[in-house]
Amino acid sequence: MTIHPDEVADRATTCFQHAYGRAPAGRWAAPGRVNLIGEHTDYNDGFVLPFALPMRTVVAASPQPTGSWTVCSELTGETVSFGTDEVTRPGGVTGWAAYVAGVVWALREAGHPVPGARLAIASDVPLGAGLSSSAALEAAVLAALVDLGGLALPAEQQPRLAQRAENQYVGAPTGIMDQSAVIRCRTGHALFLDCRTEQVEHIPFDLDGAGLAILVIDSRAPHRHADGEYAARRASCEKAAALLDVPALRDVPPANLDDALARLPDDETRRRVRHVVTENQRVLDTVALLRDGQVRQIGPLLTASHASMRDDFAITVPEVDVAVEAALAAGALGARMTGGGFGGCVLALVEADQSDRVAAAITAAYANRAFTTPTVTPATPASGAT
Ligand code: ADP
Ligand code: GAL
Repeated sequence: MTIHPDEVADRATTCFQHAYGRAPAGRWAAPGRVNLIGEHTDYNDGFVLPFALPMRTVVAASPQPTGSWTVCSELTGETVSFGTDEVTRPGGVTGWAAYVAGVVWALREAGHPVPGARLAIASDVPLGAGLSSSAALEAAVLAALVDLGGLALPAEQQPRLAQRAENQYVGAPTGIMDQSAVIRCRTGHALFLDCRTEQVEHIPFDLDGAGLAILVIDSRAPHRHADGEYAARRASCEKAAALLDVPALRDVPPANLDDALARLPDDETRRRVRHVVTENQRVLDTVALLRDGQVRQIGPLLTASHASMRDDFAITVPEVDVAVEAALAAGALGARMTGGGFGGCVLALVEADQSDRVAAAITAAYANRAFTTPTVTPATPASGAT
């Protein structure tokens, strides 16, 4: 699939002109993301390694003198307006516009004088596919409001603020990975993020140079019970950390894993802990290989991460398992589900000249099972919000 970022920006401008009858003052963009490895580690204060996608959400915006906010989305075809009353408390705006109102709310909570604004959104990040369309929307809106209002909010502080919008205003108990990725990623690099300290290292990730490709396969699986199950996994991890008397599961060293598991009351909790502790180590091992230029060698770590999500964390569904198995059987060097789980996308690391073969094998495996035809898109690491 060819990505035309300018085309999305043009669509945002057209949407703005159509809604408000004039040109916008500016346009701000934030990408979707995939996570190379490190799943459900972020809210355990652990490590993640996402990269930004070329797909983007663009917000065209202008100040609105009345000190209220109006937002339209090309995707939903709706226009929503809200004032200061609706952004004094979570729940004032619901539905998709809550992501926009949540950003206004979080900025105001942090003491920033948020300017009123007219906004129009266009995007080619698929919604609800686990590629962080919600974080892209938050980050693009945040960038627009920061610039329009001349607000003092450095980029390093923006992920926490966008996360607060999602956690507290929208009500989704997610970690810091998505907002960090869509704001802080750099072209040609994966973002090695320590979710406790928020320190980052930009790890060169040169797929072309290595003759490799990453395929992103949208499993098209419906997100069955995704929200409740995500919250349940998080609660289970927090309960385990309390039982082990550590601030977070990040504080369980892999060398002490067996001892820690022996102190836990049931098999399910032991499996959840084993996933998080081993997954953190897989991130560190992946980073070490990439620092050393050994890109091919990360394949088995990706596949091990998938097995851990399937068998221990129990967050995969048949569609993603079939995509991973078909990719590996067709010669992928490694494959895993990416994102929160219960559907969403799979990524496969392949020799570049094997991309078509692997994509065809996955499509055929889906046809055999009568699953909805998946989309398969090559992904290269792109830049964060601009
Ligand atoms: P993901 O972030 O993985 O795509 P989520 O379910 O967390 O999935 O977020 C998707 C939601 O974000 C959508 O249902 C919608 O409410 C909102 N959203 C994202 N992008 C847009 C957009 N361009 N226009 C309107 N709403 C959007
Ligand atoms: C996402 C969530 C992230 C992270 C991820 C799993 O849906 O937004 O914060 O927890 O799932 O790694």
